[in-house]
Amino acid sequence: MTQQPVRISPSILSADFARLGEEVRAVDQAGADWIHVDVMDGHFVPNITIGPAVVKALRPHTSKLLDVHLMIAPIDPFLDAFAEAGADIITVHPEAGPHIHRTLQRIGQLGKKAGVSLNPATPAKMLDYILEDVDLVLVMSVNPGFGGQKFISSQLRKIEAIRKAIDKLGKPIDLEVDGGIDVETAKLAISAGADALVAGTATFRGGPAQYAANIAALRG
Ligand code: DX5
Ligand code: ZN
Repeated sequence: MTQQPVRISPSILSADFARLGEEVRAVDQAGADWIHVDVMDGHFVPNITIGPAVVKALRPHTSKLLDVHLMIAPIDPFLDAFAEAGADIITVHPEAGPHIHRTLQRIGQLGKKAGVSLNPATPAKMLDYILEDVDLVLVMSVNPGFGGQKFISSQLRKIEAIRKAIDKLGKPIDLEVDGGIDVETAKLAISAGADALVAGTATFRGGPAQYAANIAALRG
């Protein structure tokens, strides 16, 4: 069994963007394991957020892993910039470029953990010939683009299938779930086999005084 104790990765998409450094320090001190950074380009997804300059600016504010989720197309021309900016995990969508295997190889060459993200309609089968080349699989339990959406429960079956495939392979690949995670859906995702959870709304609700309790509640 390669399922690890659950890691919580607060998505700063739900943070106060005017005080981003402070917000990252606050969730770090409140017990976050990783910091999830959602990068959106208004093209691959219908929203625009931040780029490598912001990742670089945030880097000194935490020593936790920066879990950078790229929702941009094309993808390949920007990998080096995010690596240089200080990303630790770089996660990409197969639909964002022509050669996902090459993209994952490049992330590895840059010395970063390589993640692959599956949209709700993308089958687990997509992983058949790349699972051994990744460090992390990110299952999208909402359509990428926005925080605060409802968890799509059909993704639980996909999480179960990927958990089986990871265990069969025997490599400690992180299985992370992103979108609509709250105390209830966190439990479902963990029992389906997830060992890392992204949480935007559920982390940041109630303001800084609540962050520690919010994060602890998601661990079940
Ligand atoms: C959606 C992003 C998520 C989002 C999650 O495209 O990838 O990381 O911020 O937000 P919540 O936790 O509010 O669903
Ligand atoms: Zn994300």
